Amino acid sequence: MKKVKIGIIGCGAIGTSLAKIIEGRLSEEFCVVAVCDAQQEKARALLGICRRAKVLDAHRLIAVSDFVIEASSAAVSYRFARQSLLAGKSILVMSIGGILGKEKGLFSISRKTGARFLLPSGAICGLDGIRALSAVGITSITMNTSKPPKALAGAAFFKSHKVDLSAIRKKTLIFSGYAAQAVRFFPQNINVVALLQLAAGPRVRVKVQIWADPALHRNVHEIDVESKAARLKISCENTASPDNPKTSYLAILSAAASLAGFSDAVRIGS
Ligand SMILES: NC(=O)c1ccc[n+]([C@@H]2O[C@H](COP(=O)([O-])OP(=O)(O)OC[C@H]3O[C@@H](n4cnc5c(N)ncnc54)[C@H](O)[C@@H]3O)[C@@H](O)[C@H]2O)c1
Repeated sequence: MKKVKIGIIGCGAIGTSLAKIIEGRLSEEFCVVAVCDAQQEKARALLGICRRAKVLDAHRLIAVSDFVIEASSAAVSYRFARQSLLAGKSILVMSIGGILGKEKGLFSISRKTGARFLLPSGAICGLDGIRALSAVGITSITMNTSKPPKALAGAAFFKSHKVDLSAIRKKTLIFSGYAAQAVRFFPQNINVVALLQLAAGPRVRVKVQIWADPALHRNVHEIDVESKAARLKISCENTASPDNPKTSYLAILSAAASLAGFSDAVRIGS
């Protein structure tokens, strides 16, 4: 079987972990041929894992790959997704916040070119049920996310809201609002809310509360969905990636599962 040629944009916690998985348990179906990072040394470090890969700029990486993995930043994920799909190359996007509100055009290019556009469930579960319920109407959807304060550090929100995260001693509400605002204020911390909004569809606005809790050692997402067909209560308690406290280990495993499903005729779950 011919291996699917993978290009990885973003060689941080997710890109590196996925490279290890691809070159390990997925190596019969996939092979990393190119890597790219805004910090060249991070891309070069991946060559130790991906022995047949080259360091290329994003444009050339897309040209030589069959399948692109975006694991870089919400500031550029839309651009890379568009370039890949227009070139007929399938793409798995991790920085989902960067495409929220602009997804329609990307879906349409994907359907026209046949290039697959994968948005893995990431750090949450239950998107299958939410997508199914969106057909009959969701009356409300709310997500409460609680993280250790250090997992929220550096978010754009704190430029306009003065909060001393290091002084927080008990569970504290940091943000309350809707999905579109949350991804703008917390682009690196709250991709899952963008996924929820995409799965739920435009007829319902996903409400979000973000809490900092110094007693926590995990990132916790609690999602409540109301619909005439079902009431869902989804709770995920995620261990952080050892390389990045903002990223859950489950998000990496979910991307790997999505990738494995790309070349598998069998599909479990909707
Ligand atoms: N969908 C999900 O559930 C989920 C979960 C966690 C993280 N994420 C998102 O996935 C992305 C990667 O997460 P991570 O934990 O690996 O982050 P990370 O900070 O460890 O790595 C990101 C890497 O991308 C590189 N980068 C940034 N801008 C770039 C650009 N323009 N071109 C090329 N490289 C660029 C950085 O130099 C860095 O090496 C982030 O956007 C993060 O918010 C999504």
